[in-house]
Amino acid sequence: MKNYGIILASGIGSRYSNEIPKQFVKIAGKTVLEHTLTIFENYNGIDEIILVITPGYRHFVEDILLKNNYKKITKLLNGGDTRKESSYIAISSITDEEANVIIHDCARPFLSERILSDCIAALEKYDAIDVAIPSTDTVIKIENDIIESIPNRSKLMRGQTPQCFKLSLLKKAHELSRNDNNFTDDCGLIIKNNLAKVFVVKGSDENIKITYPEDIYMADKLFQLKSLTYPQNEELEKFKDKIVVIFGGTSGIGLCIAKESEKYGAKVYCASSRNGCDITSYDTVSEFLKTVYDQNGKIDYVINSAGVLKIGKLQDRQIDDIKKEIEINYIGSINVVKASIPYLKETHGGILLFTSSSYTRGRALYSTYSSTKAGIVNLSQALAEELAFDNIRINTINPERCATPMRFRAFGKEPEGSLLQPEKVAVASLKTLLSNLTGQVIDVKRER
Ligand code: CTP
Ligand code: MG
Repeated sequence: MKNYGIILASGIGSRYSNEIPKQFVKIAGKTVLEHTLTIFENYNGIDEIILVITPGYRHFVEDILLKNNYKKITKLLNGGDTRKESSYIAISSITDEEANVIIHDCARPFLSERILSDCIAALEKYDAIDVAIPSTDTVIKIENDIIESIPNRSKLMRGQTPQCFKLSLLKKAHELSRNDNNFTDDCGLIIKNNLAKVFVVKGSDENIKITYPEDIYMADKLFQLKSLTYPQNEELEKFKDKIVVIFGGTSGIGLCIAKESEKYGAKVYCASSRNGCDITSYDTVSEFLKTVYDQNGKIDYVINSAGVLKIGKLQDRQIDDIKKEIEINYIGSINVVKASIPYLKETHGGILLFTSSSYTRGRALYSTYSSTKAGIVNLSQALAEELAFDNIRINTINPERCATPMRFRAFGKEPEGSLLQPEKVAVASLKTLLSNLTGQVIDVKRER
């Protein structure tokens, strides 16, 4: 049985009141529509996408689809006057006898893979699924600005999407309520007609719906901080005969990545200051890459795990020491990316950079380290957009406190089990390289 993702992107966003509907507003360089489509396109559990759009904006959508080359969209339908109508148009277009339909508001571009997979798992047991989060605020019922009642909060949740159904059940619910327009969503139709139990999957606070103009500011912040867990399903066997270059590959995480990719048949070239490759020199980095290319005729992946961690108050540190740290941690990555582009263009390859959990907020004593790591995230987000035209992907790995020589030098011996093992970071890094993600921060955490 197929899983259809239905994305409702019709409507005009009257509460958002912009010149263009909210689905076409850009956040982090992409429209809300593109963000939402990308989630469904990348999620393995979705077989086909049905996109329902505002009829007057079809040309807009067609441009977006041409640019992105989504492979799963099989239908582009004109929506109706209401959300209910748009949903009905989408399900009516499916001729399969039975299917799973996963209906999502385009205006919720922060849907996580976790929610999608929980929904699809729940569809094995239930025919109707809603997604909701507990209401932390007290909900009050009012009439003309005066409280009428205060329902018990423990029994209240706030509904989100996706909402998921067996196709036949939802078709029946719509048929029974053809002329009743008093619904904001599809679960309401099931309940009104008492057709099935609706199971609730836990949503997330981030899965916001862009409704009012101020929501776009919140969305922008959420995107700055958004990170993913690594794509688990990629097959490392695909590294066979790949040419991998690792800057910082002679110790720590870089060395682990080298060993792990070699296990799967990759040919790996490690560069570091130990073997005379100074990452702060563009020419040296360029020469190293050229030698690898000349020997193999291609380069598939480039990783930069080289970095230094210096602790201390800015006022107490030597300026040359500070500059050196910034050159290694920040300029080094710029050198590596810039010098790699000509080669990776040919293979449609990938780049990995490394950040640290301190990138989201500066910390005393780590001012230069954490700010260079924030710079790396911002850099890779920007470059992901620039390099998309060349089919090169670039992502940033964000490992939790990790058992590496760099950390040992800075913090000494730490309690057994409190650190992430570099082998886990290596697997996450390689799977990220194989995925079609780009511009993402990938969190890697130890098992708890
Ligand atoms: N939607 C739709 N067809 C409609 C109305 C809404 O497909 N006729 C979609 C919207 O694109 C949105 C989702 O349903 O992704 C949730 O609707 P809402 O946030 O209410 O969007 P609008 O109806 O466009 O906004 P408003 O209610 O402020 O006019
Ligand atoms: Mg609406």
